[in-house]
Amino acid sequence: MTSNIDAVLFDAYGTLYDVYSVLARCEQAFPGKGTALSQLWRTKQLEYTWLRSLMGKYEDFEVVTRAALRFACKSLQLALDETSSKALMDEYLRLATFPEVKGALAKLSHLKLCILSNGSPRLLQSIVRNAGLESTFTQVISVHSLKVFKPHPSVYQLGVDATGVPKERIAFISSNYWDAAGATAFGFRTFWINRSKAVPDELGYPPAAVLSSLDELVTTLS
Ligand code: LAC
Repeated sequence: MTSNIDAVLFDAYGTLYDVYSVLARCEQAFPGKGTALSQLWRTKQLEYTWLRSLMGKYEDFEVVTRAALRFACKSLQLALDETSSKALMDEYLRLATFPEVKGALAKLSHLKLCILSNGSPRLLQSIVRNAGLESTFTQVISVHSLKVFKPHPSVYQLGVDATGVPKERIAFISSNYWDAAGATAFGFRTFWINRSKAVPDELGYPPAAVLSSLDELVTTLS
């Protein structure tokens, strides 16, 4: 099935990097509230990307993430001071990868591997370096140059323009169903990594396949 795939574009947050690896730090800052805070923080972060894109008022992912943290804390009635805010935001500079990621990417090294992400260049550079993946990716592509977030079709087009690979020969990998749907609607061959057995959104544009982890992607693309 892969003979006609030349490049693989990975979503970063939730797909390669575990956004809930911030949970321990949330729990440390606000005992008993770590789970609620990390979940609301991520939910609002995504919501703000969509709202800002619709408003035509882009701010980079770090600004959006900080705003989402402020909202989540206010909403849960947690007093966020400068020190906790910095400590929690610093977690976004060193998010952990999911356990199978490094090994799986090593097995896919015959393909052109890239990240296509909402993350700002600074955040992406930091998490790629922190995970020791600098030499794994041919390109780390950020929406920042477009000033609009996923799932706007221009973001997926950026993946085509940046790699120089036609969309029919690109596989797009995301754990975020809405991102996978956007990529499928654009014309990528999309693989949804559903580690948590989530229910698919009712958006149409289903992925080419649903996989349980990147290990399964290796088998699929080999
Ligand atoms: C990203 C978000 C969507 O990495 O997870 O682009």
